Amino acid sequence: MKDTEAATRRSYWLETAPPGEPAPPPAGDLSVEVAVVGGGIAGLSTAWELVRQGREVAVLEAARLAAGVTGHTTAKLTALHTLVYDHLRRTRGPEGARLYALSQSEAIRHAAEVVGELGIDCEWEEAAAYTYAQNPGRVEELRAEARAAREAGLPAEFVTETELPFSVAGAVRVSGQAQFHPRKYLLALVDDLRRRGGAVYEGTRVVGLTEGKPCVLETGAGVSVRAEEVVVATHYPIFDRALLFTRLSPRRELVVAGTIDEDLAPRDMYITPEQGTRSVRSAPYGDGKRLLIVTGEHFTPGTADVEKRFARLSEWADDHFSGLTFTHRWATQDNDSTDSVPLVGPLHPGSRHTYVATGFGGWGLSGGIMAGRLISDLASGREAEWAGLYDPRRLGPVVREGVSFLKHQAQVARHFIGDRLPALSGPRPEDIAPGDGAVVRLGGHQCAVHRDASGQLQAVSAACTHLGCLVAFNRAEKAWECPCHGSRFAPDGRILQGPAVKPLEKRDL
Ligand code: FES
Repeated sequence: MKDTEAATRRSYWLETAPPGEPAPPPAGDLSVEVAVVGGGIAGLSTAWELVRQGREVAVLEAARLAAGVTGHTTAKLTALHTLVYDHLRRTRGPEGARLYALSQSEAIRHAAEVVGELGIDCEWEEAAAYTYAQNPGRVEELRAEARAAREAGLPAEFVTETELPFSVAGAVRVSGQAQFHPRKYLLALVDDLRRRGGAVYEGTRVVGLTEGKPCVLETGAGVSVRAEEVVVATHYPIFDRALLFTRLSPRRELVVAGTIDEDLAPRDMYITPEQGTRSVRSAPYGDGKRLLIVTGEHFTPGTADVEKRFARLSEWADDHFSGLTFTHRWATQDNDSTDSVPLVGPLHPGSRHTYVATGFGGWGLSGGIMAGRLISDLASGREAEWAGLYDPRRLGPVVREGVSFLKHQAQVARHFIGDRLPALSGPRPEDIAPGDGAVVRLGGHQCAVHRDASGQLQAVSAACTHLGCLVAFNRAEKAWECPCHGSRFAPDGRILQGPAVKPLEKRDL
């Protein structure tokens, strides 16, 4: 079995379009028309659309632009989202499925237009999207999906042949979709946004929001940003009066990538719900090669042996594609909403000037571009035909999303209470191997203790600063992860990913 131990542990997108000099945080208090919190695809798309409409916009990004989830995606732009249409047809009716297909297709069409208009060199390739299965037992499910997707308005068909180097029992095929380099696309959008007078601040973590006229955001550095309208596009919402966290489950996913001869590389995009999801695409690489990108092995953050999962994914890629030389591996994170439809629109039932974009499942690229259009319209007093479909205020979770809502709550409760029990008889600091970490009870506190490669121990509180669940160590990525809502922290407690906005507190050993 080949493994990816020697592969670069960095996203290919970040390596080939690295962040330049960071845009400095605001030097003092600011006033803008619209503040967009979060510089991923949803935030940047929203900001760019608004700037194009002549609005005064500032983007506030806690770390670097397009370098979080957006910089770690598979970068497929498709309206075929595995098996969503048959589900939507049943849960939201034929009209809901139609609006979903239309809004996602419109986002892809719009992105193609933007690429042309700005002349962006982002390796844009038109491709078909497939959802396939190798197990004949799933053929009926695929036929139903093809039917539902077609009825929803997509050019979908059921097929049994693909270009993949292995046979499939069946597949749904949708033509006219696209794949691209997400960072090259977004960095060009940022350049254009600045040219048009938009402001961008990196290294600017927002920690507080007071809604009103205007709204006031507080940054970790003590700067206030007053804004008539605020867009929360932080992947998992950091402000959440509507308790959206009860309707979102975090899911971590692994990616392995490697070079393959051009004539052996698939040119279309593939996904299967089998084996815990396998997603495949390829990207231009040069020298007669393409980069094969394989995603899969999803799990709740903080609950898996990630090294083993990487090995399983690379073994699958190696078994299915010959001549593959692994070059990169990385991981990404998605938020699944309980009804499989993103939450995009007003932040809570009473909100008049605050908006949110979240819950894209694994489909944040078309979803993020769609959200940019939808929110910029809402903030300008217009409403897209599909605004109601994505409105976060749609029917309460227990009514429509009962089973998955309750399942998610039970899982959170298990992590909140259950995860505290093993630590009572858990490891001691001296048991922790170099490079590893464990939750240890010290002086009556649950501490997250990490031993670095040189043998030094450091301890932080194991209670996640979001809502208090216990974190667990991801040895492969050297991070503390919270299983409840997916916050991630460096071994020294610094925030890697929200919704937490405060680091884990230092503890004495
Ligand atoms: Fe919510 Fe940790 S992310 S409790």
